[in-house]
Amino acid sequence: MVDYMLLDGKMLSNKIKNELKAEFAKLDPKPKLVVILVGDDPASKLYIQSKQKACEEVGVISETILLDSTITEEQLVLEIERLNNDPTVHGILVQLPLPKHLNETLIINTISDKKDVDGFHIYNKGRLINNLETIVPATPLGVLTLLKEYNIEIKGKHAVVIGCSNIVGRPMAALLLNHDATVTICHRYTENLKQYTLMADIIVCAVGKPNLITADMVKEGAVIIDVGINRLGKKVVGDVDFENVKDKASAITPVPGGVGPMTIAMLLSNLLKCYQNQ
Ligand code: GUN
Repeated sequence: MVDYMLLDGKMLSNKIKNELKAEFAKLDPKPKLVVILVGDDPASKLYIQSKQKACEEVGVISETILLDSTITEEQLVLEIERLNNDPTVHGILVQLPLPKHLNETLIINTISDKKDVDGFHIYNKGRLINNLETIVPATPLGVLTLLKEYNIEIKGKHAVVIGCSNIVGRPMAALLLNHDATVTICHRYTENLKQYTLMADIIVCAVGKPNLITADMVKEGAVIIDVGINRLGKKVVGDVDFENVKDKASAITPVPGGVGPMTIAMLLSNLLKCYQNQ
């Protein structure tokens, strides 16, 4: 039985990338994104490769700066300040996580808030919390854009966000609240998760645990957004037991091909915004 809507992030991200490509083509000088990777975490390397590929697709100049994991905080700060002051650079992204000896908060807040394509700078986060115009982190913005594309009502709905990371859960909850949802945030210390998910009109799960959300935890007709990316052998799966949950859902994202590609498209959209702000 297929009466759920499949929220196709791959298709929508391609459409958005094509639109951005046309916008970027009008710009002179060309927009430039600088990605900084400290150390050689394999997952981070894969992520930045896909970011670079997307930049190439849409006609953005991308430069990757690979730094040794032994770099000092002072050296990294100097490197970021150099990029802040370089008028040919419009967006700066420091891939997370950073090695333990580097203070992530300090590093992220060294990036100019005008070049902060990730929307992680404390000024941009503050603006999001205050429901002001800002650069919104790419993954939550990708989720919102998918919901809007498929005309899914947010206003007045009960959204349950599972996971409270700085990258996804917290900004996701703020964004949904800014769109007039009633928002519940669940996390690792939530007792009886199911009691909350059963009340949800919209579930956004960003935890990193395969099969965390099973069919018995979902209300009939709920909208299910799966932000999880988990590698099981060669297979990539989300946090939701898709096969069993889909028949209860009114709409659901696949993994892969749901939220993942939207994140990259939104990063490029944020770069355009940064460019226009400079
Ligand atoms: N690590 C995992 N996701 C992200 C992201 O969206 N941006 C950055 N900078 N690092 C990440």
